[in-house]
Amino acid sequence: MADPELMRARYLAGQFARPRGRIGRWLIAPWLDRIAGPSNRLAFRKLDVRSGDRVLEVGFGGGGLLGRLLAAGADVVGADISEAMIARARLRFRREAGQGRLRLLHCSVDRLPLDTASIDKAVSVASLYFWPDPAAGIAELARVIRPGGRLVLCFEPAEELRKWPGHRFGFRLFGQEEVEALLEAAGFQVLDVQVGHGRKPDRFLCLSAERVAANG
Ligand SMILES: C[S@@+](CC[C@H](N)C(=O)[O-])C[C@H]1O[C@@H](n2cnc3c(N)ncnc32)[C@H](O)[C@@H]1O
Repeated sequence: MADPELMRARYLAGQFARPRGRIGRWLIAPWLDRIAGPSNRLAFRKLDVRSGDRVLEVGFGGGGLLGRLLAAGADVVGADISEAMIARARLRFRREAGQGRLRLLHCSVDRLPLDTASIDKAVSVASLYFWPDPAAGIAELARVIRPGGRLVLCFEPAEELRKWPGHRFGFRLFGQEEVEALLEAAGFQVLDVQVGHGRKPDRFLCLSAERVAANG
């Protein structure tokens, strides 16, 4: 693969999937925070966070949304497979971590070391494409979110991601219907789908769902 444009796209795709090293920590992470601004804002609004809510963010990357959740008074758990992102968040939010308001978990979404029904609200922005088994990841979120709790998922739909050559390297592409079906199969009721707009991505989807009680 000699095309420098494609090589750059492949490198960036790898960093987006699991930011690593000094480049991941000091260049990619703040960049992710900048481009995720619109999706983080919309996801935050859809979560409707109240002080004291136990909120989980999966795939927090640079930590922009973790900061918003903490500022809103939530008790936050951040889970990410990237050691570089865990290290960055540990430093960036050392005060909140020291106060016991932030727990950082180095793990994959499909194996969360959390008790069943221990989370009020969970969110994940631009991470779903990289989950090794999306159905298992969403089922694990259904396990840890209490009945009546909320899940917000933001992602670029397939037709949007296809505009960027990097999508060929490790991204799994989703349409709205597929994600809705995964949510419903895992015990969520989809409440709302909103289209958001930003710069890179131009267009993303934000699905809000409620964890249905076992007998509901
Ligand atoms: C493109 S970044 C998005 C980061 C941030 N949410 C944002 O929108 O800027 C994807 C993040 O998901 C994390 N991630 C990828 N696969 C994961 C998995 N299986 N479980 C948890 N986190 C994962 C990556 O390490 C990375 O931090």
